[in-house]
Amino acid sequence: MRQIRVFDTTLRDGEQSPGATMNVDEKLQLARQLARLNVDIIEAGFPITSQGDFEAVKLIAEELETVTVAGLARARFEDIDRVAEAIKNARKTGRIHIVIATSDIHLKFKLKMTRQEVLNASINAVRHARQYTDDIEFSAEDATRSDWDFLCRVTEEVIKAGATTVNIPDTVGYTAPVEYSELIEYLMNRVPNIDKCVVSVHCHNDLGLAVANSLAAILKGAGQVECTINGIGERAGNASLEEIVMALKTRPKLFMADTSIVTREIYKTSRMVSKITGMIVQPNKAIVGANAFAHESGIHQDGFLKERSTYEILKPEDIGIPGSKLVLGKHSGRHAFKDRLGQMGYHLTDDDVNHTFERFKALADQKKYVFDEDIETLITEEISKTDYVYNLVSLGVTCGTEDKPIARITISKRGEELKTESTGDGPVDATYNAIAQLTETKSQLIRYEVKSITGGTDAQAEVFVTIEEDGRTVRGAGSHTDTIVASAKAYINAINKLEGKNRVITQGV
Ligand code: KIV
Ligand code: ZN
Repeated sequence: MRQIRVFDTTLRDGEQSPGATMNVDEKLQLARQLARLNVDIIEAGFPITSQGDFEAVKLIAEELETVTVAGLARARFEDIDRVAEAIKNARKTGRIHIVIATSDIHLKFKLKMTRQEVLNASINAVRHARQYTDDIEFSAEDATRSDWDFLCRVTEEVIKAGATTVNIPDTVGYTAPVEYSELIEYLMNRVPNIDKCVVSVHCHNDLGLAVANSLAAILKGAGQVECTINGIGERAGNASLEEIVMALKTRPKLFMADTSIVTREIYKTSRMVSKITGMIVQPNKAIVGANAFAHESGIHQDGFLKERSTYEILKPEDIGIPGSKLVLGKHSGRHAFKDRLGQMGYHLTDDDVNHTFERFKALADQKKYVFDEDIETLITEEISKTDYVYNLVSLGVTCGTEDKPIARITISKRGEELKTESTGDGPVDATYNAIAQLTETKSQLIRYEVKSITGGTDAQAEVFVTIEEDGRTVRGAGSHTDTIVASAKAYINAINKLEGKNRVITQGV
């Protein structure tokens, strides 16, 4: 197995995602987690660009004892000196990462330099950096759109000048696996001193190929992969660390390569990055998305329950997720439903399972997801034959900029009508005060959420509330085109479940 170095650039290229700026404390907190994840190199910032980036690189380099910390510099002495200053007291090692473009398009329009000038600048920059540290990375920006022979020339010369890692970035996410692997092979065969450095790959995801390109390059001998957590980064992002690492782990015979990443820390790191940057992970994102280990189809659920490897190639536990989820919805089958009942502590007779399953299917036709609490309600009604205690009869609310919100409500308690009115800070608060008064509930409202089931102003609102009493928590749901009515139904629904829980039964036979 070849050991591939993981160069994490979440704090530098990842931070270049629009809106993902991190302050020094946030970078430090993330760097500590990246150290627990056991990445080999953390690129913590671009010190010349701001005092914050300088401090982040410096503090992280001075604190971490197991990780090499890199700072980015253009091929200019002032940039390099700033990185050198930031990493000079690095606990483990500091790396100076020098970048200059090598493609003609960048030379002509951005740098306004000739190839010879770029070559000279690269050699001089690397030589200058070498006086500070032995760990120098050179990046040929836009390498994949550069002339291959010029790229070979630059690579050979920067290695002679002292670069220990040479990075071949696909800066604009333009290449494809077949081409990128050919380019890496070309460099491996044509650059005479290539064995004196580690070849690194750095892929952007503009065509959705960043991970595939990185893996293709690893197959051709790349020894370092540059990536970010959740694949965040400039434009469409960088290659995602978790996807590359888990691809290598899952297909060892194919790639014959591994990393030193502690995979059980992946999920936690992903959550932290999402929280700090505010960039939500798409539910179907590989490895760390909410649905990555969720099975909904009945056929899949049945197969999974018989033998998990039928539909799962990775173990969620390996990346730090407690377990797979069988999402109960309209595609779920009896097997998954019965299994969930068992997990919830309900061991019903086959007859009871059959009845409840019919009702579950009817509910799943109306509702996108069926939660455990919904199932509890079904069971409560089916098995104990207990009907709801409270039902909403009518609700009228006055509110707006002129009036103090007032809710007038009638609910029935086992057929008997009860009425009251109450004020509150808003229409929902007034309604909830009125309901609490009539039901005399002692519960506390823990959470209130409103979702729109469809788009548009006529959309159905779906309200979820979580209430708690004496350590028992229940979740109620209600939907209606009027958000306040949906809110009232959700609250009454939760109170009914709590009442049911108080009366019913620990099922179990
Ligand atoms: O995408 C790129 O080329 C970069 C370099 C700084 C490596 O981020
Ligand atoms: Zn980049």
